[in-house]
Amino acid sequence: MAERGARVASGGSRARTLPEIVTTPDELRRLRLEWTRSGRQVGLVPTMGALHPGHLSLVALAQRECSTVVVSIFINPLQFGEGEDYLAYPRQLESDLALLAERGVQVCYCPTVDGLYPDGFATKVVVKAGGDLWEAARRPGHFAGVATVVAKLFASTGPCRAYFGEKDVQQVAVVRRLALDLDLGVEVVMGPTIRDRDGLALSSRNQLLSAAGRESARCLSRALTKAGEQFRAGVVRGVDLTRAAASVIEQEPGVELHYAGVVDPSDFQPVEVASADSRVLVSAQLEGVHLIDTSRLGSPLQLER
Ligand code: PAJ
Repeated sequence: MAERGARVASGGSRARTLPEIVTTPDELRRLRLEWTRSGRQVGLVPTMGALHPGHLSLVALAQRECSTVVVSIFINPLQFGEGEDYLAYPRQLESDLALLAERGVQVCYCPTVDGLYPDGFATKVVVKAGGDLWEAARRPGHFAGVATVVAKLFASTGPCRAYFGEKDVQQVAVVRRLALDLDLGVEVVMGPTIRDRDGLALSSRNQLLSAAGRESARCLSRALTKAGEQFRAGVVRGVDLTRAAASVIEQEPGVELHYAGVVDPSDFQPVEVASADSRVLVSAQLEGVHLIDTSRLGSPLQLER
C-alpha cells in the first residue's frame, strides 16, 4: 500500500503526490469535520476500482464543481450474487492510485470488507426506485447491495455532491432516491457514458474479455444505435424498437441476450409509444461476462473520447 504523501512517477516525467489513503469510516468522518470547518465543497466518486476513463470523467466533473474530491475504491461483496464475478473482478489498487495521483485527487477511501461489514452487521438498505425490471430482475439483491454500501459511503462522507455514470442508469435512480429519502444532504450528479471509439461503453469488466470477445461486445452499442436509427426513421412502437435492438445482439455469435427494453426514464417501465426521451436498455453475457449499456432514444451515441 502506498503511503500518505508518497511521490509517484507516472507518464514519464510527471510525478504527483499520491492521494491521502483513508481506510476506516472513522478516519473519513474526522477528515469530513475538517472540510466542513473550512467550508469546502466535497465531491465523492464511488467506484469498485480498475479505473478507466469512464471513472476518470466522473473525477474530472467532480473536480470542476468541488474543492475536495474523494474517490472510493471498494469491491462490494454485497452487490454480487451467487455465481457472479466477485472473485474474478479486477483488482489493481496500485495503478488506480497512480491514475488518481496524476489527476491530483486528494483523498482515496479504500475500506476493507471487515471494516465496512464487521461481525454482526445486520442492516440492508432496500430502495424501491428504478423499477423491478432489467438489472433488478436479472440480479436479485444487487441494488440492495449497492444501496447499502452507498448509504454507508454517503453517511461517512457527509453532505457532498456524489457522481455516478449514466451507463448504470438504474443504479443512478436508486442512489438518487436513497439520498433524498434518508436526508443525507447528498446531491447525486449523473455523468455521461464514456465509450471507446468503436462504441463499446467502458467497463472494468471489459478487461475480462478476450480480443474476440471484446469485438463481439460491440453488439450492445450497435443495438442502441439500431434502435435510434429506427426511431429517427419513424418507428415509434416500443415493441418494434425493442425487437430491433434485441435482434442485433441475438445475431452475434457467442453472445447471450439478457434483455432489451425501451422504457420511460421516470419509472423504467416499457413504453407503448416511444419518444426521444425514452431510454433504451440492453444487457448481454459473453465469455461469462455480464455487460450492460443504455442510451437516450433521441440522441446519437457519443463515440469519440
Ligand atoms: P463501478 O462499476 O466501478 O462504477 C463506478 C462509477 O463509474 C459508477 O457510477 C458507474 O456508472 C461509472 N461508470 C462506469 N463505467 C462508465 C462509463 N463508461 N462512463 C461513465 N461512467 C461510468 O458502479 C459501481 O462501481 C458500484 O455499483 C458502486 C456505485 C461503486 C457501489 O459499489
